[in-house]
Amino acid sequence: MKTMKITISIKHALLPAAVLAFLNSAGAADIDAGKSVFVHRCAACHAVGPSARAGFAPQLNDIVGRRAGSTAGFTYSAAMKKSGIVWSEKNLASFVKGPGDVVPGTSMRFWGIGDEQKVANLVAYLQTFKQGGPTPAR
Ligand code: HEC
Repeated sequence: MKTMKITISIKHALLPAAVLAFLNSAGAADIDAGKSVFVHRCAACHAVGPSARAGFAPQLNDIVGRRAGSTAGFTYSAAMKKSGIVWSEKNLASFVKGPGDVVPGTSMRFWGIGDEQKVANLVAYLQTFKQGGPTPAR
């Protein structure tokens, strides 16, 4: 009976470790990699950070939780303004994969990013810009 108990507790200790290892290799978002995606794919039009202003496109500080089409100083498409979207991690990821699928008629000219991991990294990076500034690196 004693050996049996030991086997069970070892099993329970190993399972979460295996799950964590899997998440680290497959699912965890990489903020630095997300920054690189932003710089290469978004920064030509969008700004983030304390001095971010609208240019070709609205600034993206505090984007998660923000109502679509709501920043001052940028003239949005009618489609974006009346979309009724509040940006979440989920619909932001979908928008980046295919802007026109999420907001038909949007004036954002962007083909979309197909790679799920890149999109996850990008969304994680954007979430570091709360109240206009990056939160200290982890
Ligand atoms: C060619 C310029 C361009 C590029 C590149 C671009 N965008 Fe945009 N983006 C726009 C424009 C223009 C709008 C406003 C769209 C509208 O009003 O329909 C917009 C709107 C958005 C919005 C909605 C903002 C709001 O205030 O509701 C998000 C979120 C967004 N873009 C994210 C991104 C991300 C992330 C990338 C990089 C993967 C990206 N965009 C690349 C031009 C661009």
